[in-house]
Amino acid sequence: MRFLLFSLFFYFFTISNGFDGFANPIEFETDEDTEVDLLVPVESSLNTDERVFRARGIDGLPAIGIQRGVVIAAPYRLYLPRKFFREFSILVTVKPSDRRGGYLFAAVNPFDTIVDIGLLLEPAGTSQTNISLIYSNSRTDGSSRAIASFLVPQFEQIWTQFALEVRLDEVILYFKCVRYSAVHVTRVPEQLVMDDAHKLYIAGAGPLIKTGFEVFYL
Ligand SMILES: *[C@@H]1O[C@H](CO)[C@@H](O)[C@H](O)[C@H]1NC(C)=O
Repeated sequence: MRFLLFSLFFYFFTISNGFDGFANPIEFETDEDTEVDLLVPVESSLNTDERVFRARGIDGLPAIGIQRGVVIAAPYRLYLPRKFFREFSILVTVKPSDRRGGYLFAAVNPFDTIVDIGLLLEPAGTSQTNISLIYSNSRTDGSSRAIASFLVPQFEQIWTQFALEVRLDEVILYFKCVRYSAVHVTRVPEQLVMDDAHKLYIAGAGPLIKTGFEVFYL
């Protein structure tokens, strides 16, 4: 049997491009003015893994490219609070290299089996992308749950900015700087509590949850 490894890239924008609030590739903003830049865990891989590399972002500004199959993992508690934010926004600037999607990031339980919180891109139909907010309670749920999904025109090979504003009973998608859609949600619990052994994956959800970023075999 023969298999080929395809080089598939996700580019993440690294520096401010002039849009307020979109300075970082994936960023949380909360009421308490906490900002968490999820590019930071990626930066340490820049020097240690050649599949994580400097690239060009919007208008030629610096970005980081991540090849499909790279596992970028960090202890969750290094970057995020034990009790996750009640209300928050996730800001994303991304250029997917293909339509296959995958997790942009995921906070995963210690067994690598359930995504407590994550952002998933999946292809839908022939020309759309399905953006899902994954929000589960790994202490009680048997599998990861998408609590809000949004269909948008696909943006393969196009630098794209979007944001999810997560409120207690509503998730709002801003896509390319316009309020695109909102869905009513019931979040249980309102505030996720993570274990010290939770992991944070960027551009993936760990070795067991393979959605999207697994090596591509022919
Ligand atoms: C979008 O993704 C969610 C979660 O994976 C799924 O339940 C839903 O069916 C998807 N919608 C479409 C149109 O693909």
